[in-house]
Amino acid sequence: MAQTFDVVILGAGAAGMMCAIMAGRKGRRVLLLDHAKTPGEKIRISGGGRCNFTNIHASGRNYLSGNPHFVKSALARFTARDFLAMVEGHGIPWHEKTLGQLFCDNSAKDIIAMLMSEMKAANVEMRLQTEVNTVEKTEGGFRLATSSGPVEAKSVVVATGGKSIPKMGATGFAYDIARQFGLKLIETRPGLVPFTLDPNTLEKLAPLAGVAVDAEVRHGKTAFREALLFTHRGLSGPAILQISSFWREGDDVTISIEPDAPIADVLKAARKSNGKQAAQTVLSEILPKRLAQFFAENQGLKGHVADLSDKAIQSLAASIQSWVIRPAGSEGYRTAEVTLGGIDTQELDSKTMQAKSVPGLYFIGECVDVTGWLGGYNFQWAWSSGYACGDAL
Ligand code: FDA
Repeated sequence: MAQTFDVVILGAGAAGMMCAIMAGRKGRRVLLLDHAKTPGEKIRISGGGRCNFTNIHASGRNYLSGNPHFVKSALARFTARDFLAMVEGHGIPWHEKTLGQLFCDNSAKDIIAMLMSEMKAANVEMRLQTEVNTVEKTEGGFRLATSSGPVEAKSVVVATGGKSIPKMGATGFAYDIARQFGLKLIETRPGLVPFTLDPNTLEKLAPLAGVAVDAEVRHGKTAFREALLFTHRGLSGPAILQISSFWREGDDVTISIEPDAPIADVLKAARKSNGKQAAQTVLSEILPKRLAQFFAENQGLKGHVADLSDKAIQSLAASIQSWVIRPAGSEGYRTAEVTLGGIDTQELDSKTMQAKSVPGLYFIGECVDVTGWLGGYNFQWAWSSGYACGDAL
C-alpha cells in the first residue's frame, strides 16, 4: 500500500525546505525526500561556511533568465527582508559584508537549524537517503516509487537543484522529470565558475598565482567590479565568477585592473620627477609588486621611466586597464556555484511555479532557468520560489 500525502517535495535543499515549511504551515501533509544523508548540504558549505543567505538589494535585475520578468512576482511576495525577519526571529546573528550581502556571524549551520526547526513546527516529514526511482501521473495526482516504498500525493514539487558540484550529490534529476512530462528545457551550463587559460597564457601568468586585485571585468555590455584572483589554473575571484555567467566559449573578456588609478598620469609624473626609476617600480605604487613586474616585462620595458615615450606609457597603461583575455574554458560543474539554464520559465506559472501543462507538478529553486549573480541572490531565489510554491499548495 502506498503512503499518501498532500505534497511530496523532492530535494531537501534551500528551496525544498522553504516550500515544505510553507505547505506544512498551511496544514498540508508534506513529505520531503532527499537522497543525501543530511539536508541543506550546499547551505552548509556556502559563503565560506557562513552562508551569504540573501542580498538586501535583490531584484529582477540581479538574475539571468530567458524571461527576466519571471522572478518578479516571487521576489516581491517573499523578499530579502522577509527572510531576514525569519533569521532574526531565530536569534541568528548576521552582518552585511559588502554590496548588500548578508552573512551569518557564526555558521551556515544556523540557517539549516532554523529551517529544520521551522519544518518540525510545521509537521513536515523528512526522509533522507531515499532514492526516487519513478514519478508517474495518476488520476488524482502522482505515484512515486522510492527506495523507502511507494508514495502517492496530489502534488509533486521538484527542488533537486542543478548540476553544480556532482561530488555533493547534484544530479540532473529535475531535468529528467521535466523531459518526462514534455516540458521545454533551456540548455544548461556552469555559472559563477573560475576561468581556465590556455597553457601559454597560464605559463606567463604562473608567477601571479595567489595575487588578488580590484578589477572591472567586462563582457560586452556587462561589467562587474570586484576582486580578481590569479590562480594556478587561471582566473577566479568574485569579478570573474560574476562575468563567467555571461561568457560563452570563444568570447573575450576585458579586464581593467585598479580601474580608478590614473596609471598613465602617474608614469608621466614619475618620468618628470624621478626619471631614473624602472617602470615597474612606479607601477608598484599602484599594483601589487608581482603584477607591476609582470606588466612591465610583458611590454618588454627594461630601462628607466625617463626613456618611455608617451606612446609606450599609453600602451603600458592600456595593457593593464584594457587587458583582453580569451579564457580557454571554465572549471565546469566541478567547481561552479550554480547551473545556468534549466526548466524553461515559459512552462511555469510565475506566481505558483506550477507547470502550466501538468497540474500538480511544480519546479522551484536552481533547476528553473533562473540564475542569480554572486552575492546571496541564488539563495534568495530559492527562498522566494519555495515560498511562492509552498503558499500555493
Ligand atoms: P540545492 O542544490 O540546494 O538542493 C537540492 C537538493 O536535492 C540537495 O539536497 C540534493 O541532495 C537533492 N537531490 C539532488 N538530486 C536528487 C535526486 N535525484 N534524488 C533526491 N534528492 C536529490 N548562493 C547564495 O545565494 N549564497 C552563497 O553564499 C552561495 N554559496 C555557494 C557556495 C558553493 C560552493 C556552491 C556550490 C553554491 C553556492 N551558492 C550560494 C548557490 C546555492 O547553494 C544554490 O543556488 C542553492 O543551494 C540552490 O538551492 P536548491 O534548493 O534549488 O538546490
